[in-house]
Amino acid sequence: KAPLKIAIAGLGTVGGGTVQLLHDHAPLLAARAGRPLALVGAAALAKPADLPLDGVPFFTDARDMAKTCDYDVLVELIGGAKGIALDVVRTALERGKSVVTANKAMIAHHGIELARIAEAKGGNIGFEASVGGGIPVIKSLREGLAGNRVTKVMGILNGTCNYILTTMRDSGRDFSDVLAEAQALGYAEADPSFDIDGTDTAHKLAILASLAFAMPLDIDAVSCEGIRNVSALDIRYADELGYRIKLLGVASLSDQGVETRVYPAMVPLSFPLAHVSGPFNAIVTEGDFVGRTVLEGRGAGARPTASAVVADLMDLATGRVGPTFGIAVDALKALPAAPSGTH
Ligand code: HSE
Repeated sequence: KAPLKIAIAGLGTVGGGTVQLLHDHAPLLAARAGRPLALVGAAALAKPADLPLDGVPFFTDARDMAKTCDYDVLVELIGGAKGIALDVVRTALERGKSVVTANKAMIAHHGIELARIAEAKGGNIGFEASVGGGIPVIKSLREGLAGNRVTKVMGILNGTCNYILTTMRDSGRDFSDVLAEAQALGYAEADPSFDIDGTDTAHKLAILASLAFAMPLDIDAVSCEGIRNVSALDIRYADELGYRIKLLGVASLSDQGVETRVYPAMVPLSFPLAHVSGPFNAIVTEGDFVGRTVLEGRGAGARPTASAVVADLMDLATGRVGPTFGIAVDALKALPAAPSGTH
């Protein structure tokens, strides 16, 4: 069978991890998909010497690659809600190609517009890597739980904040000291205020809420408070009372509609999210037939995020694809509340 032709824009932490995964697991991926996954283009400002890119056409201009390269899917790993990232994604979709992205800011702000282009032109958008790093949470909500009315989706959605909060607790070290470490490990956003002020969690929560409740993305509706004001003392007092402080994103459905909130919460030790530590993320979902489900895994970093990018590429290679948000974009409106106590 013909290979799936992949062009990758952005060779930073996640882009590098994705190139490495496609190289290291090429035979496994080809066997599973029934066809090879072939890299036909890569774009970055400079070609990294340490990546297996021999023989892959290299572009210093991602827009040029998006317009001219012969690919089936463009993998956007540049980041940022607008600018080059949005340009190359629009170009690919307008050409009827598919897109895979880890870009939560872009999906949170422009997901509806992009889904509309994809649906009109016949391409698809995969964004498994945009929430929860390597955790297959998008697939879980869109496919695994599709039979349910979801009443709540909540979680630890930012690896940097969780790393900071757990390291502060374990070592008593300072906020800024630990942040620098999270940056060095490749967890933090280019602008780390997106992590610590809760913006990144808000982007991810808006995406999860849209999938869970089949409603249009609404980043402006998310109320947002980050962890800047959480002190070592707060963490110690919470500890003594039997709680952990966690930055949570919570979306819940009631008769009044959907409420979306990001805030540092006191989580009781008996709740599944209390013990999630370091760069790990976890998501708790409640559905009317399934009851509660919990997913946990590495929420940031090159290899886990590459794992999610490649999951989307495998879906495209095998044809396991559907509408971006699991429902035609024009049919998005919050589903009515589930009757309580039904599971
Ligand atoms: N900066 C993000 C985090 C990266 O720390 O979770 C993954 O989206």
